[in-house]
Amino acid sequence: MTKARWLAERRSDPWHRKAKEEGYPSRAAYKLIHIQQKYRVIRRGDLVVDLGSWPGGMLSVESQTVGPEGLVVAVDLKEPAFKAENVVFLQMDVNDAEAPFAILSALGNRRCDVLVSDVSPRFTGVRDVDVFNQLMLGIRALEISDVVLRRGGNVVGCQSSPILPTVASCVIVASSSCISL
Ligand SMILES: C[S@@+](CC[C@H](N)C(=O)[O-])C[C@H]1O[C@@H](n2cnc3c(N)ncnc32)[C@H](O)[C@@H]1O
Repeated sequence: MTKARWLAERRSDPWHRKAKEEGYPSRAAYKLIHIQQKYRVIRRGDLVVDLGSWPGGMLSVESQTVGPEGLVVAVDLKEPAFKAENVVFLQMDVNDAEAPFAILSALGNRRCDVLVSDVSPRFTGVRDVDVFNQLMLGIRALEISDVVLRRGGNVVGCQSSPILPTVASCVIVASSSCISL
């Protein structure tokens, strides 16, 4: 997709417009708001890890939800765009061998209650490559959760297109149950 077409699609996207009107950094905020309305995976005071946090739609929802008693550790390759007192930002590659330990250290060596991953590769347009890269990032998110998530904590994994081209799919792994949205 060309940049011009991407920008045109974004302008006509009602979720993008709604996010702009309501002050969220991205439309992704509504994915998490809908998950919260249904499953209430994040609670006040929680420790949350957000992988692939830029520009911060989900991050702003997490920050509001956990409140000043909670903490969100946000990780992305890009420089932080959303800032708040209860957010610690790590600008790094989730594939970096040190990433799980850097996250744990940012959590104050406490395991988190929830890990949210919306990490998504730059799409090449070659479907098989894009699907492979997206799946590898999903697997990496689970590897990281193995180190940083407390027993019984929740993983919210969002897989962007092209895995499911028309809808973004989300999977919540809550303790031993797995819910597909
Ligand atoms: C769909 S966007 C995330 C949107 C964000 N969750 C929000 O709520 O606004 C995917 C993000 O994954 C990040 N990303 C891709 N590969 C990454 C990697 N290997 N390590 C860290 N971040 C990565 C990208 O920089 C991009 O910002």
